[in-house]
Amino acid sequence: MARVIYVQPDGSSTTCAADGRSLMKVAVENLVPGIIGECGGDLSCATCHVFVDEAWFGKLKPRSDDEESLLDVTSEEPTETSRLSCQVTLTDDLDGIVVHVPSTQR
Ligand code: FES
Repeated sequence: MARVIYVQPDGSSTTCAADGRSLMKVAVENLVPGIIGECGGDLSCATCHVFVDEAWFGKLKPRSDDEESLLDVTSEEPTETSRLSCQVTLTDDLDGIVVHVPSTQR
């Protein structure tokens, strides 16, 4: 069981337990503000954008070409550590991962 910490723009955070689901699904199920997941993870909405903490970004599988393309239409300018959270599956080796929620994704 991995834990994920979602950090809001005001510095407040929510810690959730996860088991093989995506960062987006866990956030939506736990009503984490700022992660909408409108398309349900079909890689067509870009409302699940997060900034992965730098210490964790390198542990993730690389973005697909489709994810790269969709990062162009996020509500907040993407950075080098941006991911669409529906494309990141939480596994035990990501226990403690920290992601930052964009302020404009409401
Ligand atoms: S939930 Fe729609 S792109 Fe991630």
